Amino acid sequence: MSDKTAEGLKLDAKKSGQRVGLTSDEIIINGGRPLRGRIEVRGAKNLATKAMVAALLGKKKSVLRNVPNISDVRVVAGLLALHGVLITRGKNDEWILDPSNVEVAHAPDIDAHAGSSRIPILFCGPLLHRLGEAFIPDLGGCRIGDRPIDFHLDALREFGAVIEKLPSGISLTAPNGLHGANIELPYPSVGATEQVLLTAVLAKGQTELRNAAIEPEIVDLICILQKMGAIITIEANRVIFIEGVEELGGYNHKAIFDRNEAASWAAAALATKGDIMVGGARQEDMMTFLNAYRKIGGQFEVLDDGIRFWHDGEALKPVIIETDVHPGFMTDWQQPLVVALTQAEGVSTIHETVYENRLGFTSALNKMGAQIVVHEQGLDDGQRRVMRREFEQAAVITGPTPLHGAEVEVPDLRGGFSYLIAALAAEGQSKITNLGIISRGYENFIEKLRKLGADFIFEA
Ligand code: EPZ
Repeated sequence: MSDKTAEGLKLDAKKSGQRVGLTSDEIIINGGRPLRGRIEVRGAKNLATKAMVAALLGKKKSVLRNVPNISDVRVVAGLLALHGVLITRGKNDEWILDPSNVEVAHAPDIDAHAGSSRIPILFCGPLLHRLGEAFIPDLGGCRIGDRPIDFHLDALREFGAVIEKLPSGISLTAPNGLHGANIELPYPSVGATEQVLLTAVLAKGQTELRNAAIEPEIVDLICILQKMGAIITIEANRVIFIEGVEELGGYNHKAIFDRNEAASWAAAALATKGDIMVGGARQEDMMTFLNAYRKIGGQFEVLDDGIRFWHDGEALKPVIIETDVHPGFMTDWQQPLVVALTQAEGVSTIHETVYENRLGFTSALNKMGAQIVVHEQGLDDGQRRVMRREFEQAAVITGPTPLHGAEVEVPDLRGGFSYLIAALAAEGQSKITNLGIISRGYENFIEKLRKLGADFIFEA
C-alpha cells in the first residue's frame, strides 16, 4: 500500500485531529519502528477459561486471580452465569465464582452465547456430576483445522455418559452416574485431557489416563483440582491417575501466565528489531521457545519478574522447527515467529504437526513481500514424540525479504497477531481488518502496542 493512498490522506486528516472513519474492527499501522518498552502478561487464556469451568465442580466458592481481560474469558463467564453460577469481581480484580445454585440452562440461550468458543465441551463432566444432564452446542474456536471432539465423546462414554447428537449440538445424560475409567488417548490432546480430569475427579472409583497432555496449563488445572480436594497423580510417561472423591470444595488460585502471549511479544521484538520486557513470563514454561529464539539470534534475559527479549542488530539465522506437544515447540508459538523468520538470512522450515490448517495465514505475509512456500505433505523426519499424521504441513521460509504494507484480514487468533507483527515490521502503511479475533486471546493489545511505541490509528 503506497503512502499516498486514500489511507495516507486519512492519516493527514488524523494528524489534524479529525477521525478517519475506521471501524472498531480495523487498524492502520505505520510500520518500520522498533517496539521498545515493558508490557505485562497476565493469566493464560488456555488455563483461566478451564479453571472457571472447574469451579462448577465445587460445593464452595472459588477465587481465580490474574484473570486476563479477554473475550474468551467473558464468553465462559456468560455460559457459567447461564447455568446459575454467581460471578462477582473482587477488589483486587479477582473473579469470585459461586456455584451453589447451578441449574440447567436453556439450549437456545447456550447456543446463542457460546458461538466463538471451544470451551463449552468441557462443561460435560461438571454438569453431568451436578445436574445429571448437559447440552453442549456445536463448537466455535479458531479455524485451524476441523477441530473434532471424538476423543472427548469416547472418554465420556467410558465414564458412563449417554450422548445424543442433536442438530445444534449434543445432549448428554448419566443414567447410572459416572464411574472411573481406563482411557488411552490416541493423541495427547489438551482438551481431551482436561475433559477426563474434569470428569474423573468426582466419578466413582479410579481413573487411569494414558497418553495424556502434560502442558503447564494442564498441570496448573491439576493444582486447582487438588486445591478443591481432588486426588490426582501425574506419573511418568504421560500417565495421570485420578481417585474419585465424594465432594469438592472451592479453590483460591493465581492463574499461570500466558506463554503464548509472551512468545508473541518476543517474536514482535525480533521482527521489529526492538527490545521488549515481558513482565510475568517464566523461563521454566518457555524453555523450548527460548532455545529456538536463541538459535535464530534473538537475545533474552531472564529476570525475577519476567523475561526481556531483544534484537541485537546482528543478522538473524534460519532454523528448522517442528511443532509438537509439550515439552516440544508449541503450535501456538509458530505463527508469530514466522514473521521474524522472513527476516533471517537463509531458508527456515516450520513443520506443523498438531493442526492440519495452521499455515494458511502465510499467504497474507507473501502479499507483504515474504517468500513462504507451504508443502501440504509436511516432512518425513524419523523419530517423534507422537505418531505422524497424514495432514501435516510444512512452511519453507526464504529470507531476508523486506516487508511492505498491505491490507490484510485476520484469519485466526495467532495468525492475526502475526499480521500485527508483520505490519509493524513492514515499511509503509498496512490496514488490518477483522481485528476482534485478536482480543479473544491478547489482553489490551492496543494499549500495549501504544506503550511500546507503535505508530497506528485505531478508533475504538
Ligand atoms: C488447545 O486446543 C488450545 N486451546 C490450543 O490453543 C492449542 O493449540 C492446543 O490445545 C494444542 O496445544 C485451548 O486450550 C482453548 P488438542 P485443543 O485437543 O484442546 C486433535 C490458541 O491459539 N483432536 O490438543 O482443541 C485436534 O484436531 C489455541 O490459544 C482430535 O482429533 O487442542 C488436533 O489435531 C489454538 N480429536 C490435535 O488433536 C479430539 O477429540 C490437538 O488438539 C480432540 C483433538
